[in-house]
Amino acid sequence: MFAKTLISSLFIQMLVFPCAVLAAEIPNERQQELLHLVKHDCGSCHGMTLKGGLGTPLTPDKLQGKSVEALSSIIMNGVKGTPMPPWKGILDKQEVTWMVKQLKTGTLESN
Ligand code: HEC
Repeated sequence: MFAKTLISSLFIQMLVFPCAVLAAEIPNERQQELLHLVKHDCGSCHGMTLKGGLGTPLTPDKLQGKSVEALSSIIMNGVKGTPMPPWKGILDKQEVTWMVKQLKTGTLESN
């Protein structure tokens, strides 16, 4: 009985708070590392404030029309023929998805 309630409440949480559930799977410490990586590694091409440089701007308004899936796939695989490197091997899919969501919501801009 208890287990059933627990499972259904988890299920409801996943429906209502998919981002919270996903973010909760990445430990806080790792989230800080990822934020650092975005600022310093991605920032070296995309600009420290992500407004663009050698790489395109990664600000919420520029990413608005692009899906989380498409952007995640670009980050995982890179863009052939451009300086954008593939990050798989360094980052896993869950981390990249989390990162894209931060980029899209602009959490990183003020960091
Ligand atoms: C060595 C330079 C370089 C680094 C480092 C780099 N990028 Fe890029 N990135 C680029 C370039 C150049 C493009 C544009 C590719 C093209 O012309 O399609 C790009 C494109 C992208 C795009 C597609 C943007 C769009 O509007 O379609 C995303 C998303 C992205 N990068 C995210 C990242 C993230 C996240 C990191 C760090 C984990 C990162 N990049 C690190 C150079 C870089």
